[in-house]
Amino acid sequence: MAGKKENSSYISGKESRRITKFNRKVTKKLEHERADANKDPALYTTKMRDENNVVEFDNVCTYFFSDVGTVKAVDGVNFDIPRHATVGVVGESGCGKSVTSLSLMQLLQRPSGQTVGGEIRFNKGDGTAYNIVNTPNAIMEKIRGNRISMIFQEPMTALNPVFRIGQQVDEVTQLHHPEMSEEEVKNRTLEMLELVGIANKEGVYNMYPHELSGGMRQRICIAIALACSPTLIIADEPTTALDVTIQAQILDLLQNLKDKLNSSIMLITHDLGVVAGMADYVVVMYAGRVVEKGTADEIFHHPAHPYTIGLMKSKPVVGQKVDKLYNIPGSVPNPVAMPNYCYFRDRCEMRCDQCDGVYPPEIRISDTHVVSCYRFHGKGEVLGYPKSVNVEELI
Ligand SMILES: Nc1ncnc2c1ncn2[C@@H]1O[C@H](COP(=O)(O)OP(=O)(O)OP(=O)(O)O)[C@@H](O)[C@H]1O
Ligand code: SF4
Ligand SMILES: [Mg+2]
Repeated sequence: MAGKKENSSYISGKESRRITKFNRKVTKKLEHERADANKDPALYTTKMRDENNVVEFDNVCTYFFSDVGTVKAVDGVNFDIPRHATVGVVGESGCGKSVTSLSLMQLLQRPSGQTVGGEIRFNKGDGTAYNIVNTPNAIMEKIRGNRISMIFQEPMTALNPVFRIGQQVDEVTQLHHPEMSEEEVKNRTLEMLELVGIANKEGVYNMYPHELSGGMRQRICIAIALACSPTLIIADEPTTALDVTIQAQILDLLQNLKDKLNSSIMLITHDLGVVAGMADYVVVMYAGRVVEKGTADEIFHHPAHPYTIGLMKSKPVVGQKVDKLYNIPGSVPNPVAMPNYCYFRDRCEMRCDQCDGVYPPEIRISDTHVVSCYRFHGKGEVLGYPKSVNVEELI
């Protein structure tokens, strides 16, 4: 028993009951508040800070009310996705990349997953914006797949194995354009298949997903995602399940189509090589927070945060011989009980006395380059501290 108590992840029966009761209470209240906000356009209509952005994440906090406590998966995240740009979101597994994109699509596992703070602004293009956090489902259904679409990591699970390819692409167009005739929809699908580089489009139209290779399946997923010419494409690890030669083809395809359709891309990956070749801007996440963001050139050639520097060092370089690849010592802190100092401190080889203080603020070190690290204190404009939500105050 004493051993169990020493283990920090041990939860007593009493504590477990308290957490369950708290979760029930807080999620019920949040769901009620959401239902009220959904009814009032004033609560889900807002304005972009900068009209040139498609999406603005403004201090977004997305938490999971789990059986072991509150997981602050995304905690005070700030970054923008400009029009026609590719923004790479990078970071170790579990740092909140997917939860950030799922919050934008309002696809969180509810009621346990909730965006409890901040605004996610999506540009409507008419001088106003939706605050996605409060937008009702009926409007979200029109945005998803139409204005914002998503490409997932594993094309086999993203496609339905019992329907033919043609039917699956047709379905998206039909859903968002009910005015189109059956023939028009089919022609549009064939056009999309051609656009994503499927040579035998008529044949593939009638095939099932299992009849295609992994690369072809991912091309189909891209065709589905682009069927309605979205303003933003979210690609969550789009090439991780593919072999290296196919990876390059798929990334080229995405980049070309983005330019053709004038879309923006939010490219989520843990592979810095993928980001280097494609992204205009890079956002580095660590333990649910953005620790550094800037242009791809700034992040790759002048990384400022020790975590980004560590990620760069751990990336193999072609032509450079090393005995052992660098790995960042230690591991990410427990997401249920995050410290109140810099989350990277216990792994940081550059820490100084100041690092024992509160979590570092965002510091602007160039027009486009922002870093959260005390090493830059006094070397740039302090933009502010990430705002966390005290969950006890939610009820
Ligand atoms: N449904 C859920 N319930 C509880 N915790 C969750 C849930 N989904 C995600 N999390 C937690 O949120 C955190 C962020 O997860 P997320 O999936 O965003 O990571 P990621 O950066 O996309 O990682 P990966 O590179 O492995 O895909 C993790 O600590 C994860 O355990
Ligand atoms: S604030 Fe300190 S501990 Fe944190 S990353 Fe910067 S130098 Fe390291
Ligand atoms: Mg993920």
